[in-house]
Amino acid sequence: MGSPVIEIQSLYKLFGEHAKQHLARVKAGDSKEEILSATGHTLGLKDINLSINAGEIFVIMGLSGSGKSTLIRHFNRLIDPTEGKVVVEGQDIMTLNARQLRSFRQRKMSMVFQRFGLLPHYTVLDNVAFGLEAQSQSKQQRLASARQWLETVGLSGYEDQYPAQLSGGQQQRVGLARALCTDAEILLMDEAFSALDPLIRSEMQDQLIELQGQLKKTIVFITHDLDEALRIGDRIAILRDGELVQVGAPADILLHPADDYVEKFVRDVNRARALTVNTVMQPAQHRISVNTINEALAQMRTRQVDYAFYVNEQGYQGALSQQRLATLAQHDGSAELANDHYEEAVIVSPDAVLEEVIPQTLEQSMPLAVVDDEGQLTGQLSRDDVVQVLSRSAVK
Ligand SMILES: Nc1ncnc2c1ncn2[C@@H]1O[C@H](COP(=O)(O)OP(=O)(O)OP(=O)(O)O)[C@@H](O)[C@H]1O
Ligand SMILES: [Mg+2]
Repeated sequence: MGSPVIEIQSLYKLFGEHAKQHLARVKAGDSKEEILSATGHTLGLKDINLSINAGEIFVIMGLSGSGKSTLIRHFNRLIDPTEGKVVVEGQDIMTLNARQLRSFRQRKMSMVFQRFGLLPHYTVLDNVAFGLEAQSQSKQQRLASARQWLETVGLSGYEDQYPAQLSGGQQQRVGLARALCTDAEILLMDEAFSALDPLIRSEMQDQLIELQGQLKKTIVFITHDLDEALRIGDRIAILRDGELVQVGAPADILLHPADDYVEKFVRDVNRARALTVNTVMQPAQHRISVNTINEALAQMRTRQVDYAFYVNEQGYQGALSQQRLATLAQHDGSAELANDHYEEAVIVSPDAVLEEVIPQTLEQSMPLAVVDDEGQLTGQLSRDDVVQVLSRSAVK
């Protein structure tokens, strides 16, 4: 994960004519309702501090009215803060003049809006190519690029239609194609998938993850849907009444919700589906890295362990049981450890979803070896680890 691309420092937003004047109330700790009834001003954001790293998918969640759109609109200065700083790639964006701001919006960030924001009198193709007009490409190149993104979002054939002729979900995909079409490194997506039906939505989620893997864009993604957040987010920020309640990796949010508000969000999540093995596994306890049956047996006896993982320079080799080695040693204890000395233990990938490995964990008496793509032992997963994480109500 890269360096910070967007840094938000002590950001406050109070909506209303005398925002600066009433900001003192916000700082004094008056609630959103109190401020509204006393001053007619709406609290948008209160003392937000966060930084978003290059190449990550950063998800913003929260109930309706919690300030998600307000926050993301500060990132490209569609909204000016009442107080505080928005720094993008080291530059305080409040210092940009009108011309610089226009170029910043065109080149650095593209945005997919909650409501599609398409130009009604432009065709679908022209809508997608629109964002490219500022760039030094020929018209032909721009249209070719736009066609390609339309194909990616599954809208080939609709190039010459007008937005009003498309369904809501299709319009949203045009908006997405338009945002992807620009070379902007930062993509701001405000409920970009909300109007899509579940099947297309899940396809678009996959596509976004894949695209991000290829293009390494920084993506800020707002959603109401925790499952979506857990699925695509590298980190998730949770807002309540304009305040940031928690920022963390999906597993952090699930396993250690900061308060009751977050706990309510995560309560109904199917953890077996949302958590991967690496978030639940423990360090591999008993590693053996000797050569022969006798040596392994001696080590296991000294350490008083029934089971151990055999690891050599090539990485993980297999699981050993003391009992089995004792039997083998009666024949030829000086033999080098080899395939037919290992237990029939299953290995699991650190990236596997818990749900996929539950059957194996329950069947095995010894912990499963967690082995990565390179064949290295990265941890162990026991029946207890799994049962505990699935049965425990959220820990605070
Ligand atoms: N232009 C505005 N003028 C006055 N109040 C505003 C304005 N924009 C937003 N607000 C207020 O700021 C608060 C946060 O609104 P915001 O649109 O950021 O919420 P949200 O989290 O995006 O909600 P939703 O999930 O419904 O889109 C709300 O109380 C809203 O009424
Ligand atoms: Mg919103």
